Amino acid sequence: MKKDLKYITGKKKSNIPITMVTAYDFPTAQIIDEAGIDSILVGDSVGTNYLGLTSEREVTVNDMLHHTKAVRRGVNNAFLIVDLPYGCADNLDSALKNSQLLTKAGADCVKIEGWGEKAGIVKGLCDNGYKVCAHIGYNPQIHDKPAVFGKDSDQAKELLNGALLLEEAGASLIVLEMVPGQLAEKISSILKIPTIGIGSGNGCDGQVLVINDLLGISPKLFKHVRRFANLRQTLFHSFSDYASAVEKREFPASL
Ligand code: KIV
Repeated sequence: MKKDLKYITGKKKSNIPITMVTAYDFPTAQIIDEAGIDSILVGDSVGTNYLGLTSEREVTVNDMLHHTKAVRRGVNNAFLIVDLPYGCADNLDSALKNSQLLTKAGADCVKIEGWGEKAGIVKGLCDNGYKVCAHIGYNPQIHDKPAVFGKDSDQAKELLNGALLLEEAGASLIVLEMVPGQLAEKISSILKIPTIGIGSGNGCDGQVLVINDLLGISPKLFKHVRRFANLRQTLFHSFSDYASAVEKREFPASL
């Protein structure tokens, strides 16, 4: 069943958590889709997780187009969200041009980082027919290092007001990254659009995880992450078992 925005918003209304995970390639996207995950995010986290880059800021539109096309080929049902990478949505013209490219590559919706100050660009995108996912709290494209945002009351107000402005501008959903749990829950209860949390407690309308964290490929274990597999270890043993079987002439079998 094709999971569109009506379906995703319906889950919020029915108080059933929305599931989202990042993906960057065809086979993984296919498996995620088959597993029934609601939404796949081709995040700019592709840079640090797949491309060996040191920062999300190094990711280009061409990188995003390449990975979006691959993921699109594997997805039949999940709602496909794609990041507008660093510097590609600083003004409306650039946001429109790049959203058009990402949509042509297969995105159902584009994601844009930034708090209330991005409401004008979000409105411009929505007025031009694009579906937009906002992203507030910690923004890797904007903030120099990961931190929890919204601990003091001024910043909490700024986040809530920003979320309301982005909703009013037409955003269809909003990621809350590293926002204190109580605040994330409050924002989720006030907004009509679904909130998707990462490192923001379990009171959001849905959750997203970076695939390398979920699968235990990332060497680093972040506080907000639960590893649902230890693929780094599984892959390591598979490769070393293969090497040892070849070296001992145990594989392949003689013909
Ligand atoms: O790029 C990404 O993976 C993201 C998630 C962390 C929400 O933006």
